This record gives sequence, C-alpha cells and structure tokens, in this order.
Amino acid sequence: MCGIVGYIGNKTAAPILINGLKKLEYRGYDSAGVAILGNDNLKVLKYKGRLSNLEEKVCELTPEGNIGIGHTRWATHGEPNDLNSHPHMSKSGNIAVVHNGIIENYLEIKEFLESKGYEFISETDSEVVGHLVEYNYKGDLVKAVIDCLNEIEGSYALGVICTDCPDMFVAARKDSPLIVGLGDGENYIASDIPAILEYTRDVYILDDKEIVSLTGDKVTVFNNYGIEIQKDVFKVTWDVASAEKSGYEHFMMKEMCEEPKAVRDTINPRIKDGNIVLDNIKLTDEDVKNIDKIYIVACGTAYHAGVVAKYIIEKTAKIPVEVDVASEFRYRDPLVTDRHLVIIISQSGETLDTLFALRESKKKGARVLSIVNVVGSSISRDSDDVLYTWAGPEIAVASTKAYNTQLAALYLVTLELAKKKGLLETEQYKKAVEELSKISDAIEDVLENKEVIQKFAAQHCNAKSIFFIGRGLDYALSMEGSLKLKEISYIHSEAYAGGELKHGTIALIEEGTLVICPMTQDSLMDKMISNIKEVKARGATVMAIAKESNKHVYKAADVVVTIPDVDSFIAPIVAVTPLQLFAYYMALEKGCDVDKPRNLAKSVTVE
Ligand code: F6R
Repeated sequence: MCGIVGYIGNKTAAPILINGLKKLEYRGYDSAGVAILGNDNLKVLKYKGRLSNLEEKVCELTPEGNIGIGHTRWATHGEPNDLNSHPHMSKSGNIAVVHNGIIENYLEIKEFLESKGYEFISETDSEVVGHLVEYNYKGDLVKAVIDCLNEIEGSYALGVICTDCPDMFVAARKDSPLIVGLGDGENYIASDIPAILEYTRDVYILDDKEIVSLTGDKVTVFNNYGIEIQKDVFKVTWDVASAEKSGYEHFMMKEMCEEPKAVRDTINPRIKDGNIVLDNIKLTDEDVKNIDKIYIVACGTAYHAGVVAKYIIEKTAKIPVEVDVASEFRYRDPLVTDRHLVIIISQSGETLDTLFALRESKKKGARVLSIVNVVGSSISRDSDDVLYTWAGPEIAVASTKAYNTQLAALYLVTLELAKKKGLLETEQYKKAVEELSKISDAIEDVLENKEVIQKFAAQHCNAKSIFFIGRGLDYALSMEGSLKLKEISYIHSEAYAGGELKHGTIALIEEGTLVICPMTQDSLMDKMISNIKEVKARGATVMAIAKESNKHVYKAADVVVTIPDVDSFIAPIVAVTPLQLFAYYMALEKGCDVDKPRNLAKSVTVE
C-alpha cells in the first residue's frame, strides 16, 4: 500500500530514490513521483502508471539535488493520475510531502484550510498534509510536522521536505511502516528494508508517533511531544540477493522455488533432540490447560493458513478454534477474554486490520501469539509471543512461501499445545516431529515435476470459471488455491467444501467446467471420489492433486498431479505448491503481470 523512500547526503538523490522505489514497487504501482531539493529549488516529477514512466523522465531531466523523497502509489482517494500522484506540494510550493496511509479526517482539515485560503488540486486525502505543515510552519520544520500530526486522525508514514531547510528533511509514522537507514554521511527513510539494503544494514525501526529529522550526518528521533528519544540500531542480517529476482523471470517463481528452504529454516532449528523448542514463547503447561478457546485472526492467504490450523488444533490439541477475517473480527465485538489465546498470522506484520484486531484482543485481556515473517514489524512488536516464519523477503504480491511457512509454524504450535496438554503419546509426538522435519524434501519433489501443471495450464488457460473442491484440510487448501488463481490470472473461481457443492453451486457445472480437487486426506478419499463423479457426470474436467500411492484417484480424475506420500495430517504444506504453480502458469499463459497483479499491492496498510 504505497512505498515511500527518502535520501539526504552528498550524492545525487534522484537515482537513489528511483532505485529504492524499484524495490518498493510491490507496495503499489499505479503512479510514482519524486521531489528533489537542490540549490533552494524544489523539483517535483510525478506520473501516472508504472515506475518506468517516472524513471524515463528522471533520466531525461536529471533533477539535481542531494535531498529527495519518492513515492510509489496504490490509489485510495482519487484515481491514479498525475495530479493525484505523490509528492504533494504546499500552497507556496515550498514544501513537498509523500504519504502512505489514510488521513481519516481530511475533509474536516481541508475545509479549515480552504477557509484560510488554501486551494486543493488533487482528490487525495494526502494533499492536506503539505498545506497543514505549511500553515503550522514558523521556522521549525519538526515542530510544524508535530503540530500537523496532532491534528490528523488515521494512519501515516510521511516524508516532508522544505526549501527553507536545505540541509534536512523530516519523516514520521503511525500505523504505517517506516524505517530509517543509517549511512556514513548519508541517511535514508523507506517503507521497507530492501529499498535501502544496498547502502546500509543499520536501521532504526520507527515506532508509532515517532518523528525523525535527518541530515547527512545526524538522525534525531522525537516522540510526539517533540522530546528527543534514543533508538536501538537494528542490524539487517539477510543479503541483498534475497530481495532480487536472481535470474528468475518472476519473484513469484523464485519464491515458490525457495519454499523447501523456507520451510526447513522455519522448522528445523526449532527441533532439538526430537523436541520442539518454540523460541521464547513463554506459554507454560498450566497456561495451555487454561485456554478455553483459540481465535485465529488474519487476512487473505494468512487467513487461509488459519483455516488449516483450525482443523489441526481442534483435532490434535482438542481446543476449540474460531478463525476470523481481521476486518470482521475487529468490528464485531468478539467475545474474547483472558481465558483465550489469540493467534495472529501475517507475512508483512503490518496489515492494518490484523494489527488492530491484535490490539482489540489485547484490550480484552487475551494473550496474543503472532506468526509473522517480518522481524521488527508492528504486529511482532505488539504481540505477547512471536514465532517468526523464516521465509525471507516475499516480494511477489501473491503470497506463496509465506503460506507454506505459516503452516509449518502452525503445525509446530499445534504439536506443542497438544504435548503441553498431555494429549500425545511419546511415540506419536516423535513420529509427528520427524515427519514435519522431512516435509521440505517433499516440496522439492513437487517443484521438480512442475511440467505436468504447466502443460495442463496451457491447455486450459481460456477457462472462464474454475472450481476448487476439497474436504477437511483439502477444503482449506482449496480456498487458498482459488484465491491464488483469482488474484494473478483474473479468472473467476470459487472454493467449495466437496459435500456442499450439491447444495446449490453444482448448478454452475457444465460441459468443460474445470474443477481442481486437492485430495490428500486418506480418510475422506471415497467421499471425494464421489464428488468427482458428480461433477464429471455434468461435464466437468477434473485435475486432482493426490499422493503418489493413491491409485483410485487416477480412475476418477482426468489429470492427476502427484505429491510424495506424506502423512495426510501435514500434507497441506506440500499440496499447496501445485495449486500455486497452477495459478502461476495460468497467469503466465494469459499474459498477466504475475508479480504485480492489477488493483493489488502487498502489505495492506489501509483498512
Ligand atoms: C494473497 C496475499 C494476501 C495477503 C493478505 C495478508 O496472495 O498475499 O491475501 O495474504 O493481504 O497479508 P499479511 O500476511 O502480510 O498480513
């Protein structure tokens, strides 16, 4: 949801800003812009469309200056056009602002500023910021920004430059991510680490309502009362290549190929002498026995990982689980108490609805355990316990390796809960842990045999509507398969529980309708075969995803994609990969922009 970047130092700012924006383009890509300050002259370039439009203009016009801010946009208020693009200027043209988030009371502020003679030229909420900073500016930019922020309701990550202050700029955040990169004689801001990783590994992760002033030599952080505060330096340990395509055509393919490693990194270091050791999670046996219920809260793909977790936790740890979409949970006054554990799942750790659901749960006294991929993210910092997924940076908008690792982490948690409740025999526990530690090899096998899926996708890429059906854990997987397909190939699709289809939706199955069936649950195999027969009798073409040894499926489905013979209980970690590959190849065949699907962006930091 919009990426922002800023630079101050003794180099030309423009190429550094463009380079940073390229690394943030996954956050929004409907327009982009930069504001560069040089020789007391503030130059703003901003254009509708992909970042390449801006890059061309920057190469042509070579704006000079050592201070700059940049923005890549995912439109919320106002269509993507040049005027609505960031940076936005103040009335005098002396101040430029980039903003990520939503100013909820912008209409009120706009009315006030209009009464003071300010004119607005865009349809955005963000434009009020530049004018309001200017209105408050009395020679101290930090103070003017603080005064402005005191009037603002909503979320923001901001970069502000001003012609009156040619040696510094100001940034701030609340409920939208922002980091400060600490260089040698130069400093940076960015929405995410990859934007600055080429230049520095030392960063400050800003907290809500912190304001920072940056010069080439100094970074000063203030709280919202303007009092200077000290921050710890966070050292980034992962390398630049993790956030690069490294020879792959798309990030999505690269990230799927990284799944075996990501799952291994998430599981294996947590298995010590055959026992699961969950980092610093402080849940005692007593705590676990006192949990009446678990709420799992997340959005999108992470929510689908939560649906898998409901099945496995209830079955293994015998604790009732409710899974909720964060945007619903936070507004439905859920009956959460201090006898409940809330599990939050998020790749980015910044999804606004999920973050607010977490805060709501804590307010109600629940203990919050988060499963998060981004170290130091807002969700990780606000949680009581954190279990990191070690997937590494995920850049493609469609989440892939994060999902496999979220499942891996959820299996670890499930086994731990069951063990703490005394529900698993030693042998059972040992076997489950062993199976889990080998699961990455099975994903490797799936990735080596992707041609079957590629061929099937080439034959069916003109499908108008595709159904995913499954039972039990395969139903949960179907939801994820369907979402992946929709978001990158733009093909309409629905996920149904195998037994539910005949309660209405089977009316849509006709000659040639494509139906995808994950079939990894041995105990539900006969039922699923009946479901396949039902749809085939009405003309459907069926692709099944099944374990190698499951010979019955060959007789029922038209095409079978096999996965190795893993335990049904942990099969989703492996069986999702063919579904991701299917979505990828369908999108590729249709000529879609796989990594940057239309209307979407990664890290949803607005409601
Ligand atoms: C789909 C996808 C989204 C995210 C969702 C939650 O491929 O990526 O559905 O899963 O926006 O994001 P996080 O996990 O960052 O909270």
